[in-house]
Amino acid sequence: MQVDMGSERPRILLAASGSVAAIKFGALCHSFSEWAEVKAVVTKSSLHFIDKASVPSGISLYTDEDEWTSWKKIGDNVLHIELRKWADAMVVAPLSANSLAKMAGGLCDNLLTCIIRAWDFSKPLFVAPAMNTFMWNSPFTQKHLDLVGELGVSVIPPITKKLACGDYGNGAMAEPHLIDSTVRMYIANSHDQSTNTNC
Ligand SMILES: Cc1cc2nc3c(=O)[nH]c(=O)nc-3n(C[C@H](O)[C@H](O)[C@H](O)COP(=O)(O)O)c2cc1C
Repeated sequence: MQVDMGSERPRILLAASGSVAAIKFGALCHSFSEWAEVKAVVTKSSLHFIDKASVPSGISLYTDEDEWTSWKKIGDNVLHIELRKWADAMVVAPLSANSLAKMAGGLCDNLLTCIIRAWDFSKPLFVAPAMNTFMWNSPFTQKHLDLVGELGVSVIPPITKKLACGDYGNGAMAEPHLIDSTVRMYIANSHDQSTNTNC
């Protein structure tokens, strides 16, 4: 997978689904916007956790409703296709158990999963799962991770700590700075490789 950035900032589609860790989505948007052009996509459930005011004002934030308000008639642009075309890379952080299962099954019943269903897997797609330890340890999780791994999705694994529900265990989303640096390094390396190949 390569990202051909040229001299421009990479275009990153940042998405959040309905894990408690979505409270950190504003912070993630801030750090990515320091080095990338960012657009944001959020699921309905994630909006219970996201303070929209925490998302930098320069970042367009798209919800399921925008799919339908931006489309009136045949010939109009379809938002999930436009966003898929626009992005050089996509990062879903946090990725809920539900959205992971939908990704693994190819379901597409909201803006986020429609983008993923239409995704060009020659472009990077990162996910940072976040869920309670009971959900993380469910046999479903590994099955779903294996399936998305086969598609070329890169998983930024969760960490072990005291969770929002008070339980202690694995399943908390990786820290935003780690998600940021993982994606940033990947894109920088991929750009270096494509530059060297072109020499
Ligand atoms: C208070 C609360 C906290 C939740 N936290 C999580 C979580 O951390 N991880 C997760 O996978 N699901 C969590 N859920 C469940 C999801 O929000 C639910 O599965 C939802 O359908 C996810 O939708 P989405 O994947 O479209 O965003 C939580 C639900 C509630 C009510």
